[in-house]
Amino acid sequence: MSSDKKKIIIAIDGYSSTGKSTMARHLAKAIGYRYIDSGAMYRAVTLWAMRHGMIGSDGTVDVDSLSASLPDIKIDFEVQPDGTQTTMLNGENVEADIRTLEVSSHVSPVAAIPAVRHALTDMQRSMGEKKGIVMDGRDIGTTVFPHAEMKVFCDASAEKRAQRRLLELSAKGEKVSYKEVLENVRSRDYLDEHREESPLRCAADAVRLDNSDMTIDRQNEFLLDLYKKIIADADS
Ligand code: DC
Repeated sequence: MSSDKKKIIIAIDGYSSTGKSTMARHLAKAIGYRYIDSGAMYRAVTLWAMRHGMIGSDGTVDVDSLSASLPDIKIDFEVQPDGTQTTMLNGENVEADIRTLEVSSHVSPVAAIPAVRHALTDMQRSMGEKKGIVMDGRDIGTTVFPHAEMKVFCDASAEKRAQRRLLELSAKGEKVSYKEVLENVRSRDYLDEHREESPLRCAADAVRLDNSDMTIDRQNEFLLDLYKKIIADADS
C-alpha cells in the first residue's frame, strides 16, 4: 500500500475548552496531517454576523439575513511560517478577533442555525476529501465524517475547563472573572447538547477521553498511540 492510501480521517470532538484544539494540532504536526479547527469556522461566521449588525443587543440572531448571506462568507486557513494556522475571513486574518469572550457568547445560537451548519459541513467535507486530516469540533465524528477511521470524544469537568479558559483569556489581556467564564462554559455546553441540528454527542464508535487530570504530554501520547494502533490494525 502506498503511504497516501493509508491516510485516514481523525475526528476529535467534545466539550468546549477540553484542549481539543491543542491536542489535535499536536497530533496533526506529529503525523504530517492537515489540522482544521471547525470551531474557528463557526466563530468566523459569528464575527461576520456581529460586524454586519445581524446579532441584536439581546443576543438574537437575524437568521434569515445570515442564511441568505452565507455565499458571501469565505473562510480559509493560512499556514504561517512557524507552522501555526490562522483563520481567514474573506481574506482578513481574524484569528484574534474570533477568540474573544464576546464571540464566544454569541457563537452557540449561530452554530444552531441549520443553514450555517449545512454550509460549514460542506466546506469541512471538501477539506477532508483527500484524507490525511485531523479535524476538531462537536459533530465531526457524528455528522461531518461519520466514517472517520479514528474518533475521540473529549470531556473534563466544567470547573477545570473554566479555569483553563480563564488562563487563556487573561493571558490575552481580557478582563473577565472566573464566574463569567464558568457561566459561558455551562451555557455553551447546554446549547451545544440541546440544539436540534447535529447536537454535541459522543459517537458510538468514539474513544472517550476525560482529561480533567491529564497533562498535555499524556494526552498527546494517548492520541499518538491510538493513531498508531489504528494504522497497524488497518495494515494487518
Ligand atoms: O471549539 P470552539 O469553542 O472554538 O467552538 C465554538 C462554538 O462552535 C461552540 O460553542 C460550538 C460550535 N461548534 C459546533 O457547533 N460544531 C463544531 N463542529 C465546532 C464548533
